[in-house]
Amino acid sequence: MNHGIVFLNNKAMRELGVLDMKEAMHDAKRAYCLTEKGDVIAPGKCVMRWGKKPEDENVLGRINAMPGYIGGEYDMAGIKWIGSGPMNYKKGLPRASVTVILNDPDTKLPVCIADGTEVSVKRTGASGGVAIELLAKSNASTMLICGTGAQAPAQLEAALISRPTIKTVYAYDIRHESSKKFAENMMAKFAGITVVPVDNPEEAAKKSDIIDCVTLATDPFIKGEWLKKGALVMNMADYEVDYDCVRRANKIVCDYWDTIKHRMISTVAFMWRDGLIKDEDIHAELGEILNGKKCGRENDDEIIYFNAVGAGILDLAVVTRCYKKALEQNKGIKIPYWED
Ligand SMILES: NC(=O)c1ccc[n+]([C@@H]2O[C@H](COP(=O)([O-])OP(=O)(O)OC[C@H]3O[C@@H](n4cnc5c(N)ncnc54)[C@H](O)[C@@H]3O)[C@@H](O)[C@H]2O)c1
Repeated sequence: MNHGIVFLNNKAMRELGVLDMKEAMHDAKRAYCLTEKGDVIAPGKCVMRWGKKPEDENVLGRINAMPGYIGGEYDMAGIKWIGSGPMNYKKGLPRASVTVILNDPDTKLPVCIADGTEVSVKRTGASGGVAIELLAKSNASTMLICGTGAQAPAQLEAALISRPTIKTVYAYDIRHESSKKFAENMMAKFAGITVVPVDNPEEAAKKSDIIDCVTLATDPFIKGEWLKKGALVMNMADYEVDYDCVRRANKIVCDYWDTIKHRMISTVAFMWRDGLIKDEDIHAELGEILNGKKCGRENDDEIIYFNAVGAGILDLAVVTRCYKKALEQNKGIKIPYWED
């Protein structure tokens, strides 16, 4: 038997459309819808962390394995294998590096190995964008982005697709030079917006229709008392917003509630652990809203809290789209994986 696999590096993935945010948002929506319909297998994350205490992870790093199967038009199995080296910036290397392996769902043989680093950023931006589409005020004009690292540009890109009404973006990072650079880069990239770097998130949060947190924070720095009427507060990473942000929310929405509880690093997960919220307090997962089982935002006054933990099937959806295109266009390096 001879069996080949396709290797797609970052350059090939770019040529195959990995940077297309609208496509990534389509993939994310389909992944959420298929999850809600039960047409996925998502066994959850296996976290391999370095250090003795959970907080050591933010210094010493981790590698996570996220296997899955996504049905529908994708019909593909695979795994996302994502390394996170928080101190990599000192060596000029990206914090996150991602490899995705796709497996034929029938034979289970690998069919593709792809660089998934940009996939991961795009699909996380896409998840944020889908949340904004469903949960932000229709005329949202002001946004605060907290954490101006690798994820932030994609968060902004997707936000502008979902709410082209956004005109003012505040950027907050504990490393002020990072938010300053982000502001310059984003104003050069996106016409018609003003990006203002801020030293302190308070005043910006009080003015923002959308607060999007993509930091490495382990202590909350966004307070519930700052949220204005109609705000959407997005906890895209760990413990970034305080309990009052959730307490003040009229709706709590998640991407994957079971995984959030299992991972136990975000605000809403801690509140569940502390007995302050119950399963039934979660208004909806995104798939339930997309499939019309639950409503999203219902008026311009409600405050909504959103937490995303992510899932490997989001990455599998994007990589499968690129892989299918690679087969059509005869792109990528073909590697004889198994030879007689
Ligand atoms: N929800 C998801 O699906 C998903 C997917 C990918 C990444 N993430 C998470 O998003 C976060 C950001 O990822 P990234 O790749 O952009 O990381 P990154 O290291 O490139 O950027 C993180 C930024 O946050 C800043 N920061 C750290 N602590 C802060 C604090 N207390 N207050 C303000 N800013 C702070 C850092 O200075 C840095 O600029 C990570 O926690 C990651 O785990 C979530």
